[in-house]
Amino acid sequence: MNILFACSELYPLIKTGGLADVAYNLPLALKKQGHRVRIVLPAYRSLLNDLSHLKAVGQIATTVQGYEVSLLKTNLKNTDIPVYLVHCPALFDRPGGPYGEYSDVGWDDNAERFGMFCRIVTLIGTDRAGLNWQPDMVHCNDWHTGLVPLLLRVYKTRPRCLYTIHNLAYQGLFSKADFTALKLPEVIDGVRLWNFRALEFHGKMSFIKAGIVFADAVNTVSRGYAQEVLSTEFGCGLDGLLGFVGERFSGIGNGIDSQLWDPGNDHFIETLYGPSSLHRKIFNKLAVQAEFHLPNNHERLLLGVVSRLTDQKGIDLILETLPLMMQQGLDLVVLGSGDKKIEQALEQAARKYPGRLSVKLIYDERIAHLVIAGADALLIPSRYEPCGLTQMYAQRYGTVPVAHAVGGLADTIIDIPPYSEDIADATGVLFWEHSSSAMFEALLRLEFVYGNLLLWRELQRAGMGENFSWDHSAKAYTNLYDSLLPEPEQIDEKVTIG
Ligand code: ADP
Ligand code: GLC
Repeated sequence: MNILFACSELYPLIKTGGLADVAYNLPLALKKQGHRVRIVLPAYRSLLNDLSHLKAVGQIATTVQGYEVSLLKTNLKNTDIPVYLVHCPALFDRPGGPYGEYSDVGWDDNAERFGMFCRIVTLIGTDRAGLNWQPDMVHCNDWHTGLVPLLLRVYKTRPRCLYTIHNLAYQGLFSKADFTALKLPEVIDGVRLWNFRALEFHGKMSFIKAGIVFADAVNTVSRGYAQEVLSTEFGCGLDGLLGFVGERFSGIGNGIDSQLWDPGNDHFIETLYGPSSLHRKIFNKLAVQAEFHLPNNHERLLLGVVSRLTDQKGIDLILETLPLMMQQGLDLVVLGSGDKKIEQALEQAARKYPGRLSVKLIYDERIAHLVIAGADALLIPSRYEPCGLTQMYAQRYGTVPVAHAVGGLADTIIDIPPYSEDIADATGVLFWEHSSSAMFEALLRLEFVYGNLLLWRELQRAGMGENFSWDHSAKAYTNLYDSLLPEPEQIDEKVTIG
């Protein structure tokens, strides 16, 4: 099958979170399944700076939304998978991140920026971009690609379209004026677009709704989250719509890159190790302590956090629990960046507990690997978690995840029985209530196991033995794509929207 994979982030070119990792690994895994995959994302400035060898390929015949647009081509790192970059300097060649100059404030013209991106994806998806390539499937990801399923429906002959939601809380909401400026068709498939059954969401235009309503199928990135978002607690106002989507909506868990995240072959970490040489992991703990300017300490349990700093990630729970954690003799290192308020609160806490709590408010791949290898346990108190990758990385590194039992976290971690010397096939510690007391109780259960080396090794090895490979997910996506392909006789003649 020819698959066009549309996304707003792609490891290692541009990354703010797990979406970039998925955009790298899922196409690779799909290729292994025999598919021909091509990727498309915007040509942000940081990416143009990094890639000197870019070639102009596709020709976008007309100006789109009044802008000149071209397509540049590179390959996915270490592969021959083509990556098209939508080059529209007026919209994408600017400083800062993919969504805004700073991580917590979006650009004012994001509707126009990603509206444009969606139009170009649609042109490629219908072989109108001069590439001489027709995808059978357009796989869209998150709100930034939400208009693609809608725009594809303008054409009678169109590829099928899957819309994957990585995080329901990011919806791409814009004003009615932005909607008007995008000059979308008024009606698609008999549905008026400015209507609560389509793009309108409480007086705003919603990109994510466009994706959910008009895609042939919708999925999210774990089975647990797919269930949760049908409730008002997790549905972000879209639970009703997702319920209505019914069987067209499903959950497929992410995998992890087992080459990039391999304690036996990771050039970012201090000392390599594996399940039979777990005693060597301690050198990574010492390296983390040195990196974070904490005194070397073999004994005390070292907790790590590697996270975007947003409300989703529940860092407030850690801040609230800190006095108890410190009293209990637990040390903590935090690597993260994001909301300024959370960053400031962490900095303040670090000043309060020198030598015990240290934070690095940056985004740094190397340190992320080092923390995942060197911490004894990784703390993940997310309020909600569509999938989460770090809990899987941690398990592969014999670093025990301690997490709130939601979404993908609950799907991928098997909880230890409380205070028992028989840990069965447990791989981590879960807490069910999002409260400081529940998290602290989980930490006490963790400490109980940490205090017994044989038990601790058993827990570590159980996590290391888990199989989080992408192959399984790629098969599930293949089955889903297959189920969407039209019977040959349904194919209509071509029409154009000009
Ligand atoms: P989310 O996508 O919600 O941020 P995930 O767990 O799916 O959560 O993915 C987060 C990804 O971002 C992981 O690859 C993690 O290692 C990485 N990451 C998060 N914060 C940092 C940071 N400060 N430095 C380096 N990597 C980070
Ligand atoms: C989102 C989610 C995260 C998920 C990632 C990749 O950023 O917050 O849980 O792992 O997307 O799908």
